Amino acid sequence: MKKSADIILLQKMIDEVDNIVFFGGAGVSTESGLKDFRSVDGLYNLNYKYPPEEILSHDFFYENPYEFYRFYKDKILVEGIKPNIAHYQLAKMEQIGKLKGLITQNIDNLHYLAGSKNVIELHGSIMHNHCISCNKYFAGYDFILKNNHLPLCDECHNLIKPDVVLYGESLNENNIIKAIELISNAKMLIVGGSSLSVYPAAGFVSYFKGKYLVVINKTHLPSLQKVTLEINEPIGEVFSKIDL
Ligand SMILES: NC(=O)c1ccc[n+]([C@@H]2O[C@H](COP(=O)([O-])OP(=O)(O)OC[C@H]3O[C@@H](n4cnc5c(N)ncnc54)[C@H](O)[C@@H]3O)[C@@H](O)[C@H]2O)c1
Ligand SMILES: [Zn+2]
Repeated sequence: MKKSADIILLQKMIDEVDNIVFFGGAGVSTESGLKDFRSVDGLYNLNYKYPPEEILSHDFFYENPYEFYRFYKDKILVEGIKPNIAHYQLAKMEQIGKLKGLITQNIDNLHYLAGSKNVIELHGSIMHNHCISCNKYFAGYDFILKNNHLPLCDECHNLIKPDVVLYGESLNENNIIKAIELISNAKMLIVGGSSLSVYPAAGFVSYFKGKYLVVINKTHLPSLQKVTLEINEPIGEVFSKIDL
């Protein structure tokens, strides 16, 4: 396979550096079949009754739980989704000791499914849920998908809420600390599949003070300064050309 100059450069950097950190978003999972938010065919451009940003907000969850769960089951809990080559290559980079950690804004659990270990899920995960009243824990999401009604706690009959950070909610403090620490100590930071428009998550990238800042994103990211290499191509395709 003929490799472009960009891929050859990326390969050189990965070969050289042993302290790489990855910061990613919804674009990492589009090649698995999940929609992102801001692409032309992303969730923002669907004709739903409310914009996704409103449905996936704290207030909306409590005021319209039926509508929230209708959207959540239809668009977020997509069945049969598997990790793609980007997820697998990132897991491999960690196994061989190059990648020190992976920070994701995704809630889809795909990095864990691919075998990654040090994953910081800034916006939580569809794999965990709690009762809003007695705080009982519920694992996974099959019980939500199979339920035609609202998911209710079997102890106190109150509503169950997924452990995902909704708009209007704050990020877990420990995750913030770990993400900032990873990024500040990294020698190379790869930002991939994120529009860098959801804060505070996107702001963490500015803590990077290492050698190589690499962007792998379908569209150009104008907000990032001092980028060493930017590849505006699908991240799965890019990672499939890297030898580890
Ligand atoms: N899979 C998921 O868990 C999922 C899906 C949708 C949204 N979200 C949430 O929505 C928020 C959206 O912010 P965001 O920045 O993550 O997503 P975003 O939708 O704002 O941006 C996605 C970016 O990825 C790029 N992209 C799309 N497909 C790509 C590909 N194959 N290769 C490379 N780049 C690609 C797009 O050009 C875009 O710039 C996040 O907070 C996230 O939690 C999560
Ligand atoms: Zn309960």
